[in-house]
Order: sequence, then structure tokens, then C-alpha cells
Amino acid sequence: MNELVWLNGEIHLLSEARVSVEDRGFQFADGVYEVVRLYGGRAFTLDAHLERLEKSAAGIELSVPLDREALAREIERLVAQSGVGDGMVYVQLTRGVAPRNHHFPQSASNTLLFYARPLPAPPEPGTGAGAKLVTVADERWKRCWIKSIALLPNVLAKNQAAAAGADEAVFVEDGLVSECSSSNFYVMIDGTLVTCPVGPKVLPGITRAVLIECAKELGMAVEERAPKEVECRRAQEMFISSTTREVSWVEQWDGRVVGNGRCGEVTARLHRALRERIAREVGA
Ligand code: PDD
Repeated sequence: MNELVWLNGEIHLLSEARVSVEDRGFQFADGVYEVVRLYGGRAFTLDAHLERLEKSAAGIELSVPLDREALAREIERLVAQSGVGDGMVYVQLTRGVAPRNHHFPQSASNTLLFYARPLPAPPEPGTGAGAKLVTVADERWKRCWIKSIALLPNVLAKNQAAAAGADEAVFVEDGLVSECSSSNFYVMIDGTLVTCPVGPKVLPGITRAVLIECAKELGMAVEERAPKEVECRRAQEMFISSTTREVSWVEQWDGRVVGNGRCGEVTARLHRALRERIAREVGA
């Protein structure tokens, strides 16, 4: 399959598309991004992702060059042309090309691009291997609500986890758990679903927002507060979520088995509820 990319309004082969060496995304990580899930060629919660892209862009004093409806149409057109069914769309917006200088350039046309790529389907709710987490000190900045392409702390954390034989790094600061290197984190404490509020240390995950809605619809108690690491260590059930993984139950944390070493009931219920949402929205 020839992968395609939409780059500043033109569609190219991904292998042939070029961005300048002096793109500020390349030199300063001066940009923001999104990852959107595709099911049967249809984008799930696309509008919410594009709204977050606008907020991230505003957070770094940029604006998205296309309005939300026009961008959604262009993305849908590219997805159709790419022929990707189950997969994802990666969208990136940078401040564009200008002679290297920390100051914002007076005039630079932003670089906007997106491409679609297939992904394997996540396991059915309650099945598959659980995630293995490793604690990593949270040394990220205080604007984690911006989906910035400056991901080096996350990349280092993820690789620290991988080197320890785990899947995901969980960030802990001052004894509080915020989120993971590329997913949100949830823990069951005394029958309540606890997850850190979005903001300085937590990305407003789109999957997170849907899961909280589902939990409330199912009558579950939900509390948005930063869980203490010590509470989590005692907990019998925790899970993580993201666009690409949907929901993953946590099997181990720092080498210790969580609960009975199987997917917890709440996790499976919420994952099933998410699947129902997906089916309703995109008919998958
Ligand atoms: N990451 N927290 C962080 C730090 C993330 O990078 C992500 C997603 C999430 C989950 O957000 P959402 O449910 O909107 O995907 C939370 C994407 C998938 C990535 O970087 O590839």
C-alpha cells in the first residue's frame, strides 16, 4: 500500500513528502499533534480531537489554519483515499518554516499535515495481556494539557519502562500519580473510580472523557483527584486508556502483580461501554 500524506493542502506519497530543515517543529518541537482512531475507515470522536487540537494550538499561540468542519472533511477525504480501515490518523501542526531564532517569526506559514495508518485491533474487553507499569519520576513541564510534539520526557520514560520489561511508564510526583507516558491512569479505591484531574500534569484524554461519561451513565462513583501512590499500591484494580489502546487492564506495577492478576470487573465493564459508544458513533 502506498501511504499518503496531506501536507499544507496537497496530497503526496508519504515516502516523498518533504518538510524543510528549518521547520520549527524539527528545530524547536514548536508544534502540537493529535492521534485519532479509525474504525472501518471512520474516525471516532473526530470533533473532540479537533477541538483539543485547537486548544493545544492556542496554548502555544498558534491557530489551526482550517476551521474544524473543513479540517474534518479533508481528513475524511484523505482516509478514504488512503483506504485505511482500522487504524489511526496522525495530525501535526507546527509554527512552520523560518530562519532559526527562538523568537516567533513575523511571518511563517504553519505546517499542517496528517496521514492515516493501519493499526491492529485492541483485544476484546477483559481479554489479552495486561499492561505492566513502571514508576518514573515526573520531570515534565506544567502544561501537559497541551498535546505538544515536545515528547522527549515521555519518550525517555517509555523507554525506561521498556528496558525494565514493561509496557508503560507511570508518572509519580510528590507521592501522587498523574498519568502515563502515552495514556491516562485510573485506579479503583474503595469502590470509587479515581483519576487525576486534567490540567498541568494530565492530558485531557478523549478516551478518558468518554470513559468518565460511561462510568457515570453506569452509576459508578467517579472522583477526579490525584491518587496517592500508596493508595494505588494497595489497590486491586487499575487500568489505562488511550486512543490507540482503548482500555488496558494493569497486570503489574513495578514487578508486583495487581489484584488477582486478571482484568478487573470495572475495567471490563467500562471497556465494553466504550465499545458500545464506538459502535453507536461509527457503526463498527
Ligand atoms: N497519546 N496522556 C498522554 C501523555 C498521551 O500521550 C495520551 C495519548 C493520553 C490519552 O489521550 P487520548 O485518549 O486522547 O488518546 C494521555 C497518543 C495516543 C499518542 O501520543 O500516540
